[in-house]
Amino acid sequence: MPLTQHRTTLTQFLIEERRRFPDASGDFNSLILNVALACKSIARAVAFGALGGVLGNAGGAGGAGGATASINVQGETQKKLDVMSNDAFLHITEWGGQLAGMASEEMEDPYQIPSHFPKGKYLLVFDPLDGSSNIDVNVAVGSIFSVLRAPEGVETVCEKDFLQPGRQQVAAGYAIYGPATMLVLTVGTGVNGFTLDPNLGEFILTHANLQIPPDTNEFAINSSNSRFWEEPIKRYVDECLAGKSGIRDKDFNMRWIASMVAEAHRIFMRGGVFMYPRDCKDLNKPGRLRLLYEANPIAFLMEQAGGKASTGRQAISGVQPGSLHQRIGLIFGSRNEVDRIESYHLAPQACELPNPLFNQRSLFRGSN
Ligand code: F6P
Repeated sequence: MPLTQHRTTLTQFLIEERRRFPDASGDFNSLILNVALACKSIARAVAFGALGGVLGNAGGAGGAGGATASINVQGETQKKLDVMSNDAFLHITEWGGQLAGMASEEMEDPYQIPSHFPKGKYLLVFDPLDGSSNIDVNVAVGSIFSVLRAPEGVETVCEKDFLQPGRQQVAAGYAIYGPATMLVLTVGTGVNGFTLDPNLGEFILTHANLQIPPDTNEFAINSSNSRFWEEPIKRYVDECLAGKSGIRDKDFNMRWIASMVAEAHRIFMRGGVFMYPRDCKDLNKPGRLRLLYEANPIAFLMEQAGGKASTGRQAISGVQPGSLHQRIGLIFGSRNEVDRIESYHLAPQACELPNPLFNQRSLFRGSN
């Protein structure tokens, strides 16, 4: 970037946002800058790839899945980079005095701020390295985060402090570690994208006020799960596949990167719809993605950019979480497509999954 050309840094952007709130203490800005620093350090580790000795599984197995690999709370094999990224989030943000506690995909229980650091009024929830199962094949991966308010006067955080519906988020964002590293952020006043200038080590505002087009002809779903889908999803995908010869009267493209941050980023850049819906593949998992640190932050960003995010039956932002690592069916992207998919779920002929656990009067009704 030539020095003569002035571009807005993330720091300047945050300070200018804060000027609109004369009573703001600056804590929030410091927190976001620390989160951005954690993302920069993860970007660097990811970029070194095999040269940094960071690929492979955590727990000593190296390479492809050995017997001693460590397993996270989700029952998934942890990559070395998952562990390193989690540590980066914890240790780059814990000292600042803005946080009362944190929760992460990689930790079963909430993280307490060490007693030698001051505590603050926010909670940070994150997936430190989303899509990491693909890290060894060098696809774009990312970090996702959500900022909530901590209950007043809380000293030791517990699970229920984090169980807030998505509409209560103060800020949310993701970093994508692709050919360029970007930070995409909402503080509740639209969505802005910042690109990392690797020479300056600064995030620079490059994508101001992102808007998702309401219509699209691109959808993303893991169609190897099609036999487990509910009827409304089958109907929607069948209609897309029928293209010009069906009722949609236009041809669609299909995409699947298996890295949600990368899929969300594509949708921010050119529209589209992403579906990882509730299905009956594993009845202990009503959905694949996690509500608090995957669905909620992405939903907040989508809504702030004119898109939508839904379970198929209700807005993600209205779902009352029941547990820290709760999974949920997630559909997001261009508004008119998400509306259409919701209407298929709400149509009287929409069939339920065969398993009674998922029926309208069932265990999972209302939470997904
Ligand atoms: O939650 C992790 C994740 O890798 C997401 O980023 C991605 O959308 C999904 O899982 C991929 O799932 P699957 O392996 O079933 O395609």
